[in-house]
Amino acid sequence: MKISIFGLGYVGCVSLGCLAQNGHEMIGVDVNPIKVGQINSGRATIVEKDIDMIMATQHSLGRIRATINFREAIMNSDVSIIAVGTPSTPQGHLNLQYIFNVAEHFGTVLAEKDHFHVIAIRSTVMPGTCEKIAALIEKRSGKEHNVDFAVVSNPEFLREGSAVNDYYHPPLTVIGTESERAGAIIRSLYEQLPAEVVVADTKTAEIMKYVNNTYHALKISFANEVGNICSSLGIDSHQVMDIFCKDKQLNISNYYFKPGFAYGGSCLPKDLKGLQTLAHDLYLQVPLLNSIHKTNEIQMLRAVSILTQQGYRNIGFLGIGFKAGTDDLRNSPAVELAETLLGKGFSIKIYDQNVQTSKLTGTNKEYIDRHIPHLSCLMVQDSRELLNWCDVLVVSTKEAEFVQILSETTDKVIVDLVRISAELDPSNQYIGINWSPSTNEAPAQMAY
Ligand SMILES: NC(=O)c1ccc[n+]([C@@H]2O[C@H](COP(=O)([O-])OP(=O)(O)OC[C@H]3O[C@@H](n4cnc5c(N)ncnc54)[C@H](O)[C@@H]3O)[C@@H](O)[C@H]2O)c1
Repeated sequence: MKISIFGLGYVGCVSLGCLAQNGHEMIGVDVNPIKVGQINSGRATIVEKDIDMIMATQHSLGRIRATINFREAIMNSDVSIIAVGTPSTPQGHLNLQYIFNVAEHFGTVLAEKDHFHVIAIRSTVMPGTCEKIAALIEKRSGKEHNVDFAVVSNPEFLREGSAVNDYYHPPLTVIGTESERAGAIIRSLYEQLPAEVVVADTKTAEIMKYVNNTYHALKISFANEVGNICSSLGIDSHQVMDIFCKDKQLNISNYYFKPGFAYGGSCLPKDLKGLQTLAHDLYLQVPLLNSIHKTNEIQMLRAVSILTQQGYRNIGFLGIGFKAGTDDLRNSPAVELAETLLGKGFSIKIYDQNVQTSKLTGTNKEYIDRHIPHLSCLMVQDSRELLNWCDVLVVSTKEAEFVQILSETTDKVIVDLVRISAELDPSNQYIGINWSPSTNEAPAQMAY
């Protein structure tokens, strides 16, 4: 395929060489004539393992050239990859000046081009940027997005220092587009790579790089705070994290990675607090660990805010335990939510087959006696009683039985804190705590 790459820095140069090595005919474009000159003499513009050899070989095979002429590059390619810089402004926003500059050139040149042209945004950009770029090109060219041309998000995951190896072994190839045709073209660029290709909507693909890199920063900082605590106690922090990483069920896994309601229960809050206190007693600063509970409180307030905004007073709870399948109410976020709503004057009824108030004992009973002493008066044994009474139904645990109950529910506001997958009657109004109604993965046939 004939491919042009705009921006010949770390990402652009590596993509230029690696795509040429995979057999494509490449044209590089940069505003910097020195970089263009380097490419045209078979040299890389960056220092990276293996890139010099790749550039020299592919240049000698006639598969690589570069230009400062945008028009020539766009007219002589079917696909363009945009890899210009997107630095931060002093305020932390993205400086999109370079990318919009490139988009303006596309607008001008595509006006003259008859063939379908795909523009893959490899630079890291905020969700919505591809849409803006497409609108700019449409305005300038008079062409239609996803018909005459397509702007596709295709985030780059390589790391400097191992960029060529990362290019050929990416964790994943992500393509964000609403055009099947454009998606298939970009997918074909990477067919020699072993990685899974995920096609998502454009905004989802755009945010992935931010989510990934923020998580990587979080991992490093978590390991550092744990390391600081361990080393103060004479414990080998590397051994601790090695053991931590051996747990592939709960630690290094997709477990817990589901947006939803606050965490609770008798262990997580207690043990987090314990580690924070240990750090405090060691005179260590652990701002990351200290922020975790704050985030949890904010999630609780978010649920309270959604429920209080509905304008109804009768709220039915499906689930009150700290998670499905247990009668443990200690530090249950649903108990805290119910307690807060009661304090605000809402009426509440609760259905949870796991919880028999007469059978609660020990610290579990003590906890509920402190928080909702009249819990037994709020519990109903029959879910139909709850449905007949409430205006708003809040799903706070992922109990299998609730799927059936929800499928028989009509004319309610359903506030889902756990993303329970149920087919809902369209007369219900569905609200997920932190997933939007337009989310792809929303359970089919949910009414929004
Ligand atoms: N460097 C990385 O490891 C890495 C990894 C993944 C993603 N990214 C993202 O990829 C993008 C590029 O990063 P980079 O490190 O390669 O940047 P870079 O600064 O090394 O290269 C950017 C290039 O774009 C050129 N340029 C600027 N305006 C231009 C224009 N109008 N037309 C053509 N070329 C123009 C510059 O001259 C420069 O050569 C950024 O959005 C970055 O966040 C970088």
